[in-house]
Amino acid sequence: MKKKLLSLLLAAACVFSMAACGSENESAGDSGNAAQTSEADETEDGEEASGEGGTLIMATNAEFPPYEYHEGDEIVGIDAEIAAAIAEELGMELKIEDMAFDSIITAVSGGKADMGLAGMTVNPDREKNVNFSDTYAAAAQVIIVKEDSETAGPDDLAGKKIGVQLGTTGDIYAEDIEDAEVERYNKGMEAVQALLQDKIDAVVIDGEPAKVYVAENEGLKVLDEPLTEEEYAIAIAKDNNDLLEKVNTALASLKDSGKLDEIVNKYISADE
Ligand code: ARG
Repeated sequence: MKKKLLSLLLAAACVFSMAACGSENESAGDSGNAAQTSEADETEDGEEASGEGGTLIMATNAEFPPYEYHEGDEIVGIDAEIAAAIAEELGMELKIEDMAFDSIITAVSGGKADMGLAGMTVNPDREKNVNFSDTYAAAAQVIIVKEDSETAGPDDLAGKKIGVQLGTTGDIYAEDIEDAEVERYNKGMEAVQALLQDKIDAVVIDGEPAKVYVAENEGLKVLDEPLTEEEYAIAIAKDNNDLLEKVNTALASLKDSGKLDEIVNKYISADE
């Protein structure tokens, strides 16, 4: 009798506090407002089987097409699909948590998420707080300006008003440009909007999202000369070498099998 009451109470407690019920991993996933189960896992052999290896929580900032962005209720893009493929390789269930870009490293290092995939550039400062997997994409910071702008290259940025996404390598780079005034936005798209409204002179952002924004908005262009060459990798907690190894093994197999190229080609056409 007592036991029954206790389990009833526990069940009620679970309804009110999901965090109290799951494993450590699951609780972090449930606490987010954008947690999402990947399609790949659902289509396999049901929740039980896919959950067997545990839940793999990906932290991202889904404001970065074609790497991660919202499509209806879902978070899609290259990183979302790479993460789903990795989860599948590991026999785990993927959950995606959407957050501010500058919260991702903390989420990963603090154990709220297992890995950060966010078109995240490997850089020495970040490496103080997290480990990075092998790289999976080459990237660059580029400059977006109005079509009629006289700004023709990186040297012309001195003294200009430059828009960036807060906490990105574009932000770090823009800070070093002589006499430039850096305007920081929560989303890259907000910087692009400010440029369209002539509030700023240029946007410094990664090359692939830049192409998307320029294609979607009239009157903008990407300058030919990039500012930096960078590489994307997956951020994993310093004390989680086990996952780091597994992720690197999974990445290698996705590279070997051609699956990684397949994912990238789905979102980025080669002739662009
Ligand atoms: N590559 C840049 C960086 O690592 C920008 C990444 C922004 N990613 C995003 N999902 N918003 O700082």
